[in-house]
Formats: sequence, structure tokens, C-alpha cells
Amino acid sequence: MHPLQSAAAGPLCGTVSVPGDKSISHRALLLAAMAIGETEIEGLLEADDVRRTAAALRMLGVEIIEVGGGIWRLHGVGVGGLAEPDDVLDFGNSGTGARLTAGLLATHPFTSFLTGDASLRRRPMARIVQPLAEMGARFIGRSGSRLPLSILGTNEPMPISYTLPVASAQVKSAVLLAGLNAPGRTRVIEPVPTRDHTERLLRHFGMPLRTDAGPDGSRIVELEGQPEIHARNLAVPSDPSSGAFLAAAALLVPGSDITLRRLGANPLRTGFYTTLAEMGAALDWQAPREEGGEPVADLHVQASSLKAVDVPAARAPSMIDEYPVLAVAAAAAEGTTVLNGLAELRVKESDRLAAIAAGLRACGVEVEEGEDRLVIHGQGGRLVGGGKVHTQMDHRIAMAFLTFGMAAERPVQIDDGAMIDTSFPGFVDLMNGIGARITGPGA
Ligand code: S3P
Repeated sequence: MHPLQSAAAGPLCGTVSVPGDKSISHRALLLAAMAIGETEIEGLLEADDVRRTAAALRMLGVEIIEVGGGIWRLHGVGVGGLAEPDDVLDFGNSGTGARLTAGLLATHPFTSFLTGDASLRRRPMARIVQPLAEMGARFIGRSGSRLPLSILGTNEPMPISYTLPVASAQVKSAVLLAGLNAPGRTRVIEPVPTRDHTERLLRHFGMPLRTDAGPDGSRIVELEGQPEIHARNLAVPSDPSSGAFLAAAALLVPGSDITLRRLGANPLRTGFYTTLAEMGAALDWQAPREEGGEPVADLHVQASSLKAVDVPAARAPSMIDEYPVLAVAAAAAEGTTVLNGLAELRVKESDRLAAIAAGLRACGVEVEEGEDRLVIHGQGGRLVGGGKVHTQMDHRIAMAFLTFGMAAERPVQIDDGAMIDTSFPGFVDLMNGIGARITGPGA
């Protein structure tokens, strides 16, 4: 356990870069592994989650060199070229690492064993097992196909057409990655579009991919399996999900003025920033540009008074990881904020709906927790704080409540900040460097 405390911060000021995007970093490794030739990745997120995916790929026969300073080099083995691992693949805390790698493994003809930490072993895997079994793989897992899970990859992969029953980019990506080594056309239909980093990266590696608009706002993605994909260098943008904590902190701490450099601005990831703008936040996306197939921009944020909003359920996929910190912003806003369509939060690194509600209550905020919604009664710019928050092994709950403490009258304590390293190594130093006051053993 690594307890931390966050006390009222002075104005937060400066121009900073948050670490590389977690979703894109996992995918960059997995696709570079499937390419032929050497790929150099710049700005890779060097956090535990991504390191687990790199370690798994090494065990599957991919040569990976950590050059230093965020630069990594991979010698891809080509589509279908992974080798049977001689030990269990341990994905730590990472749902993305486990689910996306499982997609690749499903259509490689060998057996592998996957596990993870206590949080990951609780998370549902049936959502990937079901389509991957349709493609011919077999699985032996615990109830709900939870980890530890063994995958008996098929040597006769079948391409499928699959409609996502939950809005999940992880499930979409697992099917597309499995489809890479299946002959013929794999199709995923998503009723609600989710983050499209896999599709963008496949294109970056020169793979023809079709994406079409379907009826009622749905999207169809199709690929032809067993292509040759060719190595191509790429740079990973800064993670908008990590930037969310800095943006919220700067909005809530009076007098703050920060710029987040080269932040990922993919419209399927920016629902949080759209919501903040509706709440009255002074946010300015500057110098929008495209890098490595992904939109990026510099985000200028100035302290603002926020007012409550109703956030529609349809926006959830584009801000799914940002609800913990949005809840903190809502607690500081004037009025009652309603967050809808949150069922998926119950199966994240923790039951985030329950963890957010408990944390807010511990900090003196009135909140109603529904099955899939939260109603937060804002304190109108004056957060009391003073709570002890249980992070439930969840990095985003930890960072959200440290953000709360920066804007509160009384310090907020979290029981364990160790998990922050799974997505945002250097969070405490970066925050303290621009004016926060986070302390604790070793902080
Ligand atoms: C991710 C997708 C989301 C998100 C997770 C990363 C990805 O999960 O919560 O942190 O990289 O594809 P789901 O696809 O399960 O919603």
C-alpha cells in the first residue's frame, strides 16, 4: 500500500506533456509485431500496463528493444508468425493488453495461458471469448471465462461478421486482430462507434480496411485477412485520458493556466472535453494537426466556474475512462449533474460507479448511485474534502481523488497510489511540478 494525500494547490501553471496514449501504445506494439520489418515507436507509454504487453510479445517470439526515452524498436514476425510461449502470459492490471492479445492468439495454432492481477482476474472475458470461439478458438477459463484463461488457438480460422453486444473497442479490436490471420473477410458492426485506434493504425501500416456508416449511426469495419503488413515508424500522441486529470485540476484551482502539448484529439476520445465545454470550461484546442494517422492538438486550459449538465448515455464510449474525474468536476460545479449510461463502469479496473459514489460521499458530496447512472449535487465551487478514499486497485479513482484534494478546503487521502503507474508514471511529480501538493511516503 502506498497512501498519498493531496492538499489545496496554488494556481497550476505551465506547459506540460502527459505520457503517451495507453490504447495506442498497446496497439502500436501488437501491430508492429504483426508487421514485416523493423518499426520504431516514439513516445510509447512506459507504464506497467504497456510493459506487460511488450513482455507477452517477447514470450511469443517478437524481438523488442527498449532504446530509452520512450523509443522502442520491434522486429515484426508477420501475420500468423507468433510462436507458442513457454510460460504463462501475465497482463497485470491491463484489460486492453489481455483482450487484444487474446484476439491475436485465437488464430495462432498453439496453446497459451493468460492471467493477471486480482482486479483483472475479476473482469469479464466472455465478451471476447464468444466471438473468438466463433472463429474457431477454444477456451478454458473460470466462471464467466475469467482469467486465468487458456486459449487453444485454431489452425483453421474462420472469418466472422460480428455485431458488438456492448460498445467496446477492446472487443472490436480483439475480433479484428483475430481476423488478421483468418482467410477472407472479417466484419465488425458497432451500433455505437468506439475508439478507432486499431483501424487507424492498421491503415498506418498500409493495410486496406473498409469503414462504412451503417444505419442509425452504426459503423461497419471490414478487413481481408492474411495480408502482409509492413513496418512503419510511428509517434504516439499524449493520452487525453491522462490529460483529463490535469485539465480538471486546472479548471478547479483558481488562477490556473496550463497547456497540454500534443494531446490526442481523436473525436472518439474527447467526450470529456466536450462535456467540460458545455459546463462552461475555458478550453482552447490550438494548432490542430494529424500525426501518424491520429489527430492531435495543444490544449490550453484556464480556471473556470462550472455549471451542472446532463451527460447523454450516447456519449459514454467517447469518455468512458473519464467519468471518475468528470464526477470531481461535477462535484465542484453549480447545480446537479446527471451522468447516464454508465453500466460499463461496473466492470472496469474496479466497480467505478460504486467507487466514485463512495469517494464523493467520503469527501462530503451528496450523490445518488443508480444501476447505471450517477446524480451529483455540486458544491458550487467550494469543495470541502477531508475524506479518506478507497481506490480499489484503480489508478483512475486514485488520480481523480488526488485531483479533488487540489481544489478542496481540506486534504484528501487515498489509501493506495501504487496503481497510478499502470497508466501515468510520474503523475505525482508532474502535478507537484506545476503547483500541486501531493505528499506521502516517497512522494
Ligand atoms: C480501451 C477501451 C475501453 C477503455 C479502456 C481502453 C481500448 O474499454 O475503457 O481503458 O484501448 O480499447 P472497453 O473497450 O472495454 O470499453
